[in-house]
Amino acid sequence: MNGQGKNPWASFSGRAVIAPSLLACDFMRVGQQCRDVIDAGAEVLHVDIMDGHFVPNLSMGPGFCKSARAFTSHPLDVHLMVTDPAYYIERFAEAGADSITFHIEAAPKPGLLIERLRSLGLGVGITLRPGTAAETIFDYLPHVDMVLVMTVEPGYGGQSFMPDQLPKIQAIRSRLLTHQRLEVDGGITSRTAPLCRQAGADTYVSGTDLFAAPNIREAVAQLRACVASG
Ligand code: DX5
Ligand code: ZN
Repeated sequence: MNGQGKNPWASFSGRAVIAPSLLACDFMRVGQQCRDVIDAGAEVLHVDIMDGHFVPNLSMGPGFCKSARAFTSHPLDVHLMVTDPAYYIERFAEAGADSITFHIEAAPKPGLLIERLRSLGLGVGITLRPGTAAETIFDYLPHVDMVLVMTVEPGYGGQSFMPDQLPKIQAIRSRLLTHQRLEVDGGITSRTAPLCRQAGADTYVSGTDLFAAPNIREAVAQLRACVASG
């Protein structure tokens, strides 16, 4: 199985990473749309997993991940929006995830979860809802590869970016080492991504802005142009 046991985050040192959110795909044309974003230079595919409990919405499961894994060797960045992440991590690892991000609000024992993700050879991401204080995750920062700052309330694509999360990005960035990634997710467009970049983000999840664009490849290129390092 491609990609299993690989931590993707270390390989992007210093570069902006674009991670299209497959939640916004036309599910009847997922393969073609994945091909479009990959050909346009997106480094990572972001897979949003929702259980209808931690968030009100349902999305895809390990089967989707497995199909994506068979389709591409690009890293799969799995964002678990589920009440019990510990229950699911092995099955997403088996389905070909390269990195798994869990919500601090859903993890009674974050340290143990991080250890299990490490033992599976996966990239480790931690994330928090917009209403959760940055301090909540400070103790775990030395142990993760990536922090995902949600810039919308998790659960749905197509929402408006929350600028009040920019200070949180700054506060977290100032506590990370340079090789640790800071990802933003929710309402990311060519207008909002530069604000996140200025605040310290380097990894950009974008769904609606890319997949609802008349030309997906051009939309990726446009996002890239406004977050490219330099
Ligand atoms: C929201 C998800 C996001 C979402 C982003 O709960 O985590 O990944 O799909 O979509 P847009 O870019 O449409 O806000
Ligand atoms: Zn997400």
